[in-house]
Amino acid sequence: MGFDIIATSKYLPKNIVSNVDLEKIVDTSDEWIYERTGIKNRHYSDGESTVDLAYKAAFELIERSNIDREKIRAIIVPTFSPDYLTPSVSCLLQEKLNLSEDIFAFDINAACSGFIYALKLADGILDGMKDDEYLLIAGAECISKVLDFEDRTTCILFGDGSGCVLLKKNNDKKSIFSIGARGGKSELSCAGVNKLGLKPFVQMDGKSVFRFATRTMTACIFDVLDKSGISKDDLDYVVCHQANKRIIDYAQKKLGIAKERFYVNIEKYGNTSSASIPIALAEMDENNLLKRGMKILLVGFGGGLTWGGTLIEW
Ligand code: ACO
Repeated sequence: MGFDIIATSKYLPKNIVSNVDLEKIVDTSDEWIYERTGIKNRHYSDGESTVDLAYKAAFELIERSNIDREKIRAIIVPTFSPDYLTPSVSCLLQEKLNLSEDIFAFDINAACSGFIYALKLADGILDGMKDDEYLLIAGAECISKVLDFEDRTTCILFGDGSGCVLLKKNNDKKSIFSIGARGGKSELSCAGVNKLGLKPFVQMDGKSVFRFATRTMTACIFDVLDKSGISKDDLDYVVCHQANKRIIDYAQKKLGIAKERFYVNIEKYGNTSSASIPIALAEMDENNLLKRGMKILLVGFGGGLTWGGTLIEW
């Protein structure tokens, strides 16, 4: 059993913050940020909550795809920046979208690998659903609220946004995943409500994460190719989690696949964590880059530490 992605959408808050804007807040420069990360701009929520961001993309997706919304029977929201510990973003989204209560709705936190983890869960959930029912994944992050604007090593990297996909099961397809996790809070963390005196901000040992990301991402891509039995030359696109252009360039060289087949949009949005891959897919879809039958490898890595890759046929 596998699934089809039958619709995509994205939402980025209107408030665009450039590297030059950040120069006024921390001791940094447009040149430093662009050279080290490939980022020029990111979008910050202007009072919008995580569920607001998810809602704007999901509402557009439902309107555009013209489906019977009663048939949406599951929502998964991958996020590490929910508005509440409970209720979940997915439950609030069910209410805001006025969806059926006959629905399975929950959030998952696998940081920047969240979208791949959500696809893996979706694959199992869809197996138990009817052929005409839908599952919605809404990767949504409001990371600006957990950034320390006194820490120039982290605050320049992230942005807010959401990306949605609507899935339907396809009995003729077979899903392929490579997923992993290894506990590690010294590399990357963001404390939530705690009595330990920890600040609720993203903290990161950039160099360790960089090493982890380059090693894990390439291993994950090779594992997915191995499991699927296809060659790297059969891939139409590789869509990596957008964390740092240099990490993507490293994977591209190691894999020996043409640059054009790596979709990169980090320049405009920064790192939007679990929203980055669905935002990229939605943007590719908007630009008519995706044709039915194309083979696309998706790969993410992030806090946890977590990683995951999958091969999808469009
Ligand atoms: N502006 C100017 N200078 C800076 C800035 C900044 N924003 N940040 C750091 N510097 C300085 C440092 O203080 C240091 O100065 P020093 O040499 O005088 O000590 C110098 O620049 C070099 O700093 P490094 O940390 O060594 O820079 P590096 O080349 O490693 O780049 C970066 C830092 C961009 C964070 C990189 O390590 C990186 O991208 N890491 C991976 C991040 C990532 O992928 N995260 C994804 C997961 S996120 C998630 O899962 C939620």
